[in-house]
Amino acid sequence: MKRDNLEVLISADKIQERIRELAAQISNDYRGRHVHLVGILKGSWVFLADLIRRLDLEVSVSFLGVASYGKGTKPSGEVKITLDLDDSIEGKDVLVVEDILDTGETFRYLQGVLGARQPRSLRSVVLLDKPARRNQPVHADYVGFTIPDAFVVGYGLDYAQKYRNLPDVCVLHPDQPK
Ligand code: PRP
Repeated sequence: MKRDNLEVLISADKIQERIRELAAQISNDYRGRHVHLVGILKGSWVFLADLIRRLDLEVSVSFLGVASYGKGTKPSGEVKITLDLDDSIEGKDVLVVEDILDTGETFRYLQGVLGARQPRSLRSVVLLDKPARRNQPVHADYVGFTIPDAFVVGYGLDYAQKYRNLPDVCVLHPDQPK
């Protein structure tokens, strides 16, 4: 029988500890302002659910679904909206919430699409940053963890739609004979 081999990279406890720090920093930076969180589906919703409960701010939230094509082979630069926002972000302080910043193509696309909708400000928070894979000149304003170039799953991140429910962020070594 073949089973995927999972190795814990960042434990659930460490994730929660870091989210408390990020939330404190964001709450301080946006003190007195209303922040509109935009969660990028699907990967961000577990992180967003934990982060939002730690923010000491007035917040609202909406979701944007995006899909990228050509991942894993070569950078395609093709990102498409699969589910659009259900409200306007014009004039709002928008904070994009992502699970991972990898090649940066999704971020570059989001900056263009969301920036064109004229928010008052546009910043981003990512749980995981994998700079080794970057092929676009983008960065996140708030980063949970900088990680090595490994395939990670759990805490919202998937492999073939599996593993989003794992409490830890794990490195996936697929198809190891057992
Ligand atoms: C992941 C993640 C980002 C994107 C980052 O989404 O949620 O949106 O990849 O990668 P990039 O920097 O190389 O563009 P994924 O395509 O895995 O879809 P999902 O969120 O629905 O799992």
